[in-house]
Amino acid sequence: MRFTPSIVASAALLSTANAAIKGFNYGAQFNNDAAKTLTDFEYEFNNAKTLPGTDGWTSARLYTMIQHGTQSTIIEAIQAAINTKTTLLLGLWASAGQDSFNNEVNALKAAISQYGTAFTDLVVGISVGSEDLYRISADGAGGNPGTGPDVLVSYIKQVRDAIAGTSLSSAKLGHVDTWQVYVNASNSAVIDNLDWIGMDAYPYFQSSFANGIGNGGDLFFDAYNQTVAATKGKPVWVTETGWPVSGETVNQAVPSADNARIYWEDVTCKLVNDNVNLYYYTLQDVQWGNPSPSFGLKPGGDLAQVSPLFDLSCPAAAKNSDPFNIRSNGYVARLSPTLSTVFVFDVRSENRGKTCNLAFYMPPAFPWQDISPVKIRSPGGIIVSSVGQQSTSADISASNIVSTGVVGWVPSVQPANQYNLASFPCAAEQKVAYQIESAGGLTMDFFQMTVPPLGLFMSVS
Ligand SMILES: *[C@@H]1O[C@H](CO)[C@@H](O)[C@H](O)[C@H]1NC(C)=O
Ligand SMILES: *[C@@H]1O[C@H](CO)[C@@H](O)[C@H](O)[C@H]1NC(C)=O
Repeated sequence: MRFTPSIVASAALLSTANAAIKGFNYGAQFNNDAAKTLTDFEYEFNNAKTLPGTDGWTSARLYTMIQHGTQSTIIEAIQAAINTKTTLLLGLWASAGQDSFNNEVNALKAAISQYGTAFTDLVVGISVGSEDLYRISADGAGGNPGTGPDVLVSYIKQVRDAIAGTSLSSAKLGHVDTWQVYVNASNSAVIDNLDWIGMDAYPYFQSSFANGIGNGGDLFFDAYNQTVAATKGKPVWVTETGWPVSGETVNQAVPSADNARIYWEDVTCKLVNDNVNLYYYTLQDVQWGNPSPSFGLKPGGDLAQVSPLFDLSCPAAAKNSDPFNIRSNGYVARLSPTLSTVFVFDVRSENRGKTCNLAFYMPPAFPWQDISPVKIRSPGGIIVSSVGQQSTSADISASNIVSTGVVGWVPSVQPANQYNLASFPCAAEQKVAYQIESAGGLTMDFFQMTVPPLGLFMSVS
């Protein structure tokens, strides 16, 4: 196997991705209104870090600084975060008036003086409020009271004053709200006073849109794009999103574990791949009660004993959302920034002891583009990786593609070329699989064929 320096660079680039924050939203109480205690928070934070098929879910977003059921005692989640090395997106509840907000600020100041840098080093941000502008808007009428933009701006300034001169003085202040409030110009003073923007978006609840799971990803990213456009270049964090595993159908949105899996792949995996800070809603929401809809990845019961309701792994590099499995001649392969293709080779027993050579062939340009078996719609290159054994099955899905290493790279795919990718001892009597991913924006369709050779081939020498 030969690696050029460029391949190594590209492989390194892939492995340094996923540096953004990943976490869950954690309420202060269970469904029966019992407060979560230190051990409850520790149990949840530790469990989030060991979800099968994932890594790095090590951050917790809180809604309040106050232990549930008390007036201004520091929430026990702070000590739990210190004990479990969990980073914190703090929240101050901002929809219950100035006296209540004073209690939030006092609990924040008390936590700084009580725990010092053991606490403040874990803080990745502070959210002043949660969906307050949504609740006060025409859209949110009828729910809990909200808070208008002027009062929120005053609260943001109060928090800046409270942390000034403390070990939390450099903390970045944000606000969490639904995406609709950020595109509403009446709220722009709030945006002006923030360091980052926290966006909540749930296509499931967008009942006036075609909101079936097939549109879930587009609705989400449309909301995200609109928020990015409205918030003046400030970083946008996704502070809540998810798809319910059970509950009522809302317009075309059907809750189910299967649909939540699709949403996870289309939205969560993409955000992770794009390095967007993300707090998913939610790890578990059915403890001591049955909320409807329920968004929990895990069902009720002992968190450490129950399994997630769906597969939480992301496809290799997360962009391979729709791989095709090419088993022999005469199949159409598609490559684009969101599509990859898996090629499976059956290595026969007589090839034992021989050398197998993997190469990608491009025929000379065909005179008539319309009937050409290869169409390059946007130029670019390819990255070829070996992928795990599961990928050789006929009913391959994106979730069982596990890359086991890059074997070759073509920076720019051009007509009339043979790209020799790798040579290795033949794995006789085995099926081996390779994934081709698009690089540098390549968008290309081709018909795998032998005369003239076009596509990925394994030759024996
Ligand atoms: C726009 O924001 C203002 C201030 O928060 C609010 O009063 C109003 O209801 C919002 N408009 C809509 C259509 O939600
Ligand atoms: C959101 O913006 C990105 C980057 O500009 C774009 O590629 C994507 O298609 C947009 N998504 C939607 C649903 O508008």
